[in-house]
Amino acid sequence: MNNNIEEIVKEAILQIKTADLKTVENIKIKYLGKNGALTQILKSLSNFSAKDRKNIGSKANSAKSVIENEIESRKETLRKTLLEEKMQKEKLDYSSDFYFPFSKGSFHPIMQTIQDICSIFKSLGFSVAQGYEIETQWYNFEALNIPKNHPARDVQDTFYLEGTEELLRTHTSPGQIHVMESQKPPVRVIVPGRVYRNEASDATHFSTFHQIEGLAVDEDITFVDLKAVLSDFIHKFFGYGIDISFRPSHFQFTEPSAEVDVQCVFCNGKGCRVCKNSGWIELLGCGIVHPNVLKAVNYDSEKYTGYAFGLGVERITMFKYGIDDIRLFYENDLRFLKQF
Ligand code: DAH
Repeated sequence: MNNNIEEIVKEAILQIKTADLKTVENIKIKYLGKNGALTQILKSLSNFSAKDRKNIGSKANSAKSVIENEIESRKETLRKTLLEEKMQKEKLDYSSDFYFPFSKGSFHPIMQTIQDICSIFKSLGFSVAQGYEIETQWYNFEALNIPKNHPARDVQDTFYLEGTEELLRTHTSPGQIHVMESQKPPVRVIVPGRVYRNEASDATHFSTFHQIEGLAVDEDITFVDLKAVLSDFIHKFFGYGIDISFRPSHFQFTEPSAEVDVQCVFCNGKGCRVCKNSGWIELLGCGIVHPNVLKAVNYDSEKYTGYAFGLGVERITMFKYGIDDIRLFYENDLRFLKQF
């Protein structure tokens, strides 16, 4: 009888190991049910001697709990596997149109241009800094060698904050001053950001727009470095086929100063309405940092030289994609934005 119980347990375990949920229930009935093999044994105990009864009884009872445990753990395994299979099959693809019937978002063209330009300058060894949209007159003007009463401070162009000495920055150039105040040379940085001008809007002007300022200060920096870096940037941004021209100009914070023109992207230099038949369009301003600017941040202007540049993000985006009205960037018409 003892052997018999052990055999029963072995046999049961073997069956349980490979059973599915339904078979496992049948096995339970077969061994532990009303007429199950072990139940039969327990029922027949009265036929045995007192000694055997105790012995067989306890063996049969522990066999019962072994089989019960096996069945429970098999059921648990089966449940888990079934759940996993189900989850695999029913895995939701949230990117599918069924779950997300709205079109996916994308970056605004202005943001895209800022990102593109930043990554080109990063590849040339520049870091990216942030300036402040609310500035003092010192950062926006004086430190940049724009003295009081200079026409660039014309009240027409600047939004002053009532009752304060502060204003909305009219360009990203004050970013140069903050960077130089916070670090010693060498400096290679670009500062993208929003700027404000108090002027009426038309196809090429808007009271809020974006600029990217660039600044490099080190020993022995010359105009050649400026030309090389800007030419490389323009070629990477517009393509290597485009013609570039540096034209003398004037900015208070650079000396000498230049404006960079590129071959008109609308007519390939043949002459059109946009380039006023000149074949060239003006892209950005630049120059060698004026010694007064270096002095304003306590840089040794005998030891260090630098170059700076500033470009309009809306303008360069319009050139790149052939957009003829700056206001399109701010109307946020989805038919326009979806093209980018
Ligand atoms: N701040 C100038 C503007 O708003 C742009 C500019 C020109 C920035 C020449 C510069 C520069 O750093 O060197 O029109």
